[in-house]
Amino acid sequence: MFARLPRLRLVQFVVVLTIGLALLAWMVAGMVQETARRWFERDLNLRAKLVEASSRASLAANWSPDRARALEQLLVNIAHDERVMAAAACDSSLSTLASTPGYPMEFGCHEVGLRAATEPLGDWNSVSRLPGGSVHVSAIPLKDAAGARAGLLLLVQDMSYAERRESLTRVFLFGSFGVLAVLASMLTIFVARFSRRSWSAELRGVLHGETSRTAEFQPILRDVRDLIERVMEDSEEAPGVWTAERLKQTLSRHLHGERILIVSNREPYIHEHGPGGEVRVVHPASGLVTALEPVMLACSGVWIAHGSGSADRETVDRRNHVRVPPGEESYDIRRVWLTPEEEAGYYYGFSNEGLWPLCHLAHARPVFRTEDWAHYRRVNERFADAVCAEVDSDDPIVLVQDYHFALAPALIRKRLPAATVIMFWHIPWPNSERAGICPWREKILEGLLGSSILGFHTQFHCNNFLETVDCYLEARIDREQHGVVMRGHRTLVRPYPISLEWPVRWVATSPSPADCRERVWRELGLKPDTLLGVGVDRLDYTKGLEERLLAVERLLERFPEYVGRFTFVQLAAPSRTKIERYRQLNETVESLARRINERFGHEGYHPVILFRAHHEPPDVFRFYRAADVCYVSSLHDGMNLVAKEFVAARDDQRGVLVLSQFTGAARELTEALIVNPYDIEEAGSALATALRMPASEQEVRMRSMRSIVSHFNVYRWAGEMLVDAARLRSRERLAGRLGDAAAPIITL
Ligand code: G6P
Repeated sequence: MFARLPRLRLVQFVVVLTIGLALLAWMVAGMVQETARRWFERDLNLRAKLVEASSRASLAANWSPDRARALEQLLVNIAHDERVMAAAACDSSLSTLASTPGYPMEFGCHEVGLRAATEPLGDWNSVSRLPGGSVHVSAIPLKDAAGARAGLLLLVQDMSYAERRESLTRVFLFGSFGVLAVLASMLTIFVARFSRRSWSAELRGVLHGETSRTAEFQPILRDVRDLIERVMEDSEEAPGVWTAERLKQTLSRHLHGERILIVSNREPYIHEHGPGGEVRVVHPASGLVTALEPVMLACSGVWIAHGSGSADRETVDRRNHVRVPPGEESYDIRRVWLTPEEEAGYYYGFSNEGLWPLCHLAHARPVFRTEDWAHYRRVNERFADAVCAEVDSDDPIVLVQDYHFALAPALIRKRLPAATVIMFWHIPWPNSERAGICPWREKILEGLLGSSILGFHTQFHCNNFLETVDCYLEARIDREQHGVVMRGHRTLVRPYPISLEWPVRWVATSPSPADCRERVWRELGLKPDTLLGVGVDRLDYTKGLEERLLAVERLLERFPEYVGRFTFVQLAAPSRTKIERYRQLNETVESLARRINERFGHEGYHPVILFRAHHEPPDVFRFYRAADVCYVSSLHDGMNLVAKEFVAARDDQRGVLVLSQFTGAARELTEALIVNPYDIEEAGSALATALRMPASEQEVRMRSMRSIVSHFNVYRWAGEMLVDAARLRSRERLAGRLGDAAAPIITL
């Protein structure tokens, strides 16, 4: 039939069909929206009654002006419910007995009470549209023991979620009708066109993807893609493994696709001049970089960091940006240049001679110099300036990293009050007495409290932080919500244990464990029956390198059968070498290795092989995959990603991890052999146990640890922080609509 329609009639037919379907979509959308809204309101009424019923007895017991404080606490507890934003108690003469802090005046006892009085049962509900979203207000009558009317319980509930669902439903409906309209039109055109011309030629064109011929399919494909994406986004809160894709969807769903800014001292790619003057790219040895690089690869954005490489300046554009990773180019590094004096004062001085030993219980004395502090402040300001120069909205998401930038959150907040600043402290936080050593402790705390979320690896470190704030600042600690409220601004203080990408890309590109062993054995000239231990660290006194070598020495003393059979390889990346304590460590480690080799080594056998050099990830993973045991002996460590990397590297389910109890990782990797690194006797025996462990036991332990690391991967770490930040953001917006004083009702 269509084949015989002239072109004009065909166009008219398609237009009428489309308009008809659009009208139908509009009518159906209206009906669905109306019905959905009635359901939501009924749902909220029921919810209000449920809240009242469950608190009735305690409310009744405190329903009098002289119990106002207890009543207020009850109302605050009620408002902890995710949707209840505020609550008030009114007596029978419509005066307020108590209310949650910041209760909106427009829904006061008198105003609502008069309206409720017109209802036959005195049970009244209403929806108020506020700019940008609605709230649902209910007044529920309460009776005293004698059955007489005692007053009203007022509940204000958030309805914005209902509006979001309504608009999603609308989008779905219009989307489906749109797809239907396009499909029907396409079918019409198809039949008409293909029957008029040579349809086989058309089909060939379509199959070969010739755009001029497939242009008519583009809207359909776009709609279908949109629908699929929405369905995918909807499953985001479902349990299951976090992936790069899921993180990307979370960002675009909850934070509307906003790109993220990362601020850290260490950059993920350093451009260095090689010995022949050529420019080469180095991956720094930094747990922070290991964890955050996959997040940036998934989300894209700008990473602001100190340009510390000798060839860094040559590789940036006019805006000091460079696209990375080389060859893939999926995000930007924005480099900040520091003068040698700034680097000495801010990085070596205040950060690494002051805060680093302050936060780690590793017996190094913190040194605080006034001039270092001045540089630290100045550099924090310079990074905050860089953030402000990079943002493309007034409410960006900024992830500030580590102890180098304690002041940056407040500096950013001052310039961008609506920004979501997530600060992550990658190292431990000491107890309040120790934290109090810092002469600028209040400034550091105030700087950190500029964040929306302040993350640590463990609850223990969060508790230490809250205790420190309690000691030194005028601020309210909200122990229930794990937050601090200072000058009306709330910071959530929560544990987010950091992790690795899963799967780790270096594993996929590594040779098999057998090939790695073969190569390592060849490189080191090891005997075939050698048992190999590895350690991988920066040369840092917190890593317990001396204790580690002493444990190897003790193993050889107590179990002479391992002399000649056990070799321990230590990959030690030189670090912060301008600081005296690090130089000393370098010497001690070297002389210890020499002593052990002199005591137990012989022709062709060195029990300890020390490589003091930077190793790129493929080399590090070769050693992980070749080893029988990996020993992580940190004296104090926020998390320690080397432990997790070893586990990630062992897809053959073999190898034993000996792990210090003073690492954050020890809380998750409980199947490792957990030791106190100071107890040389115990650590030596643990090494022996590891070397004797049957393959079946290694496998059970390794499987369990791999399951933990794969589930609690870095996408989950970032995803959970971003989802918390997004909830906080929408709650703040809502609270903003009800007036500034509503801040205390923000809960997560
Ligand atoms: C620790 C810190 C990181 C730092 C890394 C390497 O893991 O938490 O912020 O990047 O050490 O130290 P470096 O001073 O070389 O950056």
